[in-house]
Amino acid sequence: IHDTVTFLRERFTRAPHAILVLGSGLGGLADEIEDAVRVPFDEIPGFPRRTQALAGHAGQLVAGRMNSVEVVAMQGRFHLYEGWEPADVALPIRALAALGAETMLLTNAAGGIRPGFVPGDLMIIADHLNLMFRNPLIGPTFPGETRFPDMSEPYDLAFRRAAAEVARDLRIPVTEGVYAGLLGPSYETLAEVRMLGRLGADAVGMSTVPEVLVASAIGVKCLGISCITNLAAGLGGQKLSHDEVMEVGARVRDQLAALVRGVLPRIAGS
Ligand code: 6GU
Repeated sequence: IHDTVTFLRERFTRAPHAILVLGSGLGGLADEIEDAVRVPFDEIPGFPRRTQALAGHAGQLVAGRMNSVEVVAMQGRFHLYEGWEPADVALPIRALAALGAETMLLTNAAGGIRPGFVPGDLMIIADHLNLMFRNPLIGPTFPGETRFPDMSEPYDLAFRRAAAEVARDLRIPVTEGVYAGLLGPSYETLAEVRMLGRLGADAVGMSTVPEVLVASAIGVKCLGISCITNLAAGLGGQKLSHDEVMEVGARVRDQLAALVRGVLPRIAGS
């Protein structure tokens, strides 16, 4: 992490206020960053080495300004289903926090479980279920991290309210809900979808939870927004495909981009 931070400090001219983690099909948001400095993950010391790129995941950091806020975006992220360890997923967050980031805005693609969700809906993450049963905080406690982080408010309440307000002003429909994080890569069976609903999940995906766990230990405040790209198994009456997830991501990109842009100054000092 020391090597990672030293390297990035040299490449980036300013300290980031916010980390932006962009999910499947939503990476295009990073193209809006002004005065962008782009660093491919593969060039960053300490970063997990990617052997095969997944379509839709460019795999680079993009530092610069969005709506006057200094951000570093992860265009593409590391998923546990790719075989990375939780510590690999945590490393970029630890490094960017060490560079000065105090807040993190995450987006993801998720399957809708709550009745009434339709593809294209946006959901502010109110809380999560860690059904990955993995945790990046297992092992020695890193300097500056809490051994036993409180998880009663992993998604900052003031940030969620700010996001809802910005959405209302922009006339973008949003709702709050619980995100269930599963390992993947297979989508859920019908029985699993029924189970998740009974457990209190409104949406299901394969990311975000590890990043938020490490952020909670560091004290980085989080805002998460799920794009409901499809209904979870069977609820939509058709089979799920990664293409469908990517295509819906592309359609709501503009709305999500406007929401992210609008909320950034509200969650990060500019
Ligand atoms: Cl239906 N399930 C999971 N686990 N992840 C998803 C999804 C569903 N849709 C988008 N991402």
